[in-house]
Amino acid sequence: MKKFYELARLERVKELLNSKQITHDLADRLVDAANLTDQELEIFTENSINQFHIPIGLVHGLKVNGESYEIPIATYEPSVVAALNKATHFVNEDKGIVVTGTKLPTTGQIFVTYQGEAEAIKSDIISKKDLLIAKGNEAVSHLIKRGGGIKQLTFDFEQEIMICTVQVDTKEAMGANLVDTIVEKIAPLVAKIINGDVISAILSNLPIGEPFKARANVPVSLIGIEAAEKLVQLSTISSFNEARSVTNNKGVMNGLIGAVIATGNDDRAVSSAMYSYHSKPLNRSFTNWIIKDQELIGEFVGYLPLGTVGGAISTHPDAKKCLSLLNVQDSTELAHVLMAVGLASNFSALYALVTDGIQKGHMRLQAKSIAKSVGVRDQDLSSVVDEMVKRKSFDTITVQKILKERRDK
Ligand code: MEV
Repeated sequence: MKKFYELARLERVKELLNSKQITHDLADRLVDAANLTDQELEIFTENSINQFHIPIGLVHGLKVNGESYEIPIATYEPSVVAALNKATHFVNEDKGIVVTGTKLPTTGQIFVTYQGEAEAIKSDIISKKDLLIAKGNEAVSHLIKRGGGIKQLTFDFEQEIMICTVQVDTKEAMGANLVDTIVEKIAPLVAKIINGDVISAILSNLPIGEPFKARANVPVSLIGIEAAEKLVQLSTISSFNEARSVTNNKGVMNGLIGAVIATGNDDRAVSSAMYSYHSKPLNRSFTNWIIKDQELIGEFVGYLPLGTVGGAISTHPDAKKCLSLLNVQDSTELAHVLMAVGLASNFSALYALVTDGIQKGHMRLQAKSIAKSVGVRDQDLSSVVDEMVKRKSFDTITVQKILKERRDK
């Protein structure tokens, strides 16, 4: 019987349907890989002239907090999904990757000039806090109906600027638009109360509160003590060497950002929040691996601002398909799964680096893409790739030469 990765695209969809991991409706939507229409393109950008196609690869059965997930990854880097699927063999023991943390409120900032004594201004504006909260909430009545709204309003005074920080429970939305609406609504009132001028009012991409924490336990027996010890050494290098930690973090983001894009979330917001969490005193490693009691234990901590409704998440047909495939209840569960993807992605990179090196797997995948582009049939692919690897030659001319030699035999 063929393995999942050996099937053709439509056979994979069928397999997911047969194993009851997706509904008939979702299967139909996955079969359809049509382009966006011109009208749809206009929703997402001004001046649309074409569209950019990113394949969606599937991480088949990554276990997170005891549940198995089918995780779509938008990527055109051939090794990312292959590496994640490989990682599932190692990180799926027991409950799989365990992730804790809950979605944080979304933050906004209002910058206003002031004149006079900061302490006196502060006590005056604090006395009007309830009024400001009521006005801000009025601007997002649909959010209030869903049980969300402003949770916190604080005032700081720095370098003759008053910074008003608003924290909003945006429920299932990532909340950038909701928060921008709120801060723009109350900024003029804040300025009036303190007799100052509004400089600007905007969302902050730095969340406030406890980050998400993911933990993977890999039995040392699965990878061998030598690989486990080297993996820990490589991870430790990231803790003191900035150039290495930045590369380590890129390996985390390889998987994570692919899942962020697939679900229609804002990859720029996620990157800036994640990097800022680890930016002091230098660019630190997002992850850390140790060996304890015969287990290789990896941790990944960070901010992950996501939503399951709003913007492209609710309007982009591919994002809607991908979210249905993931089958998460809410954005906290989505963040748990994506934190696990980041940690699994980091594990596979480090494991490959301390064993075969990264090029071996990469070159095989590269060879496969080249052979496919020349039209090599599925049944011949594996042997052609073997031959290319043997010849250490990865171009279309080599593929044509191999095919010709076989025909002439
Ligand atoms: C390549 O895309 C990612 C890696 O460089 C990550 C790492 O070095 O940890 C392999």
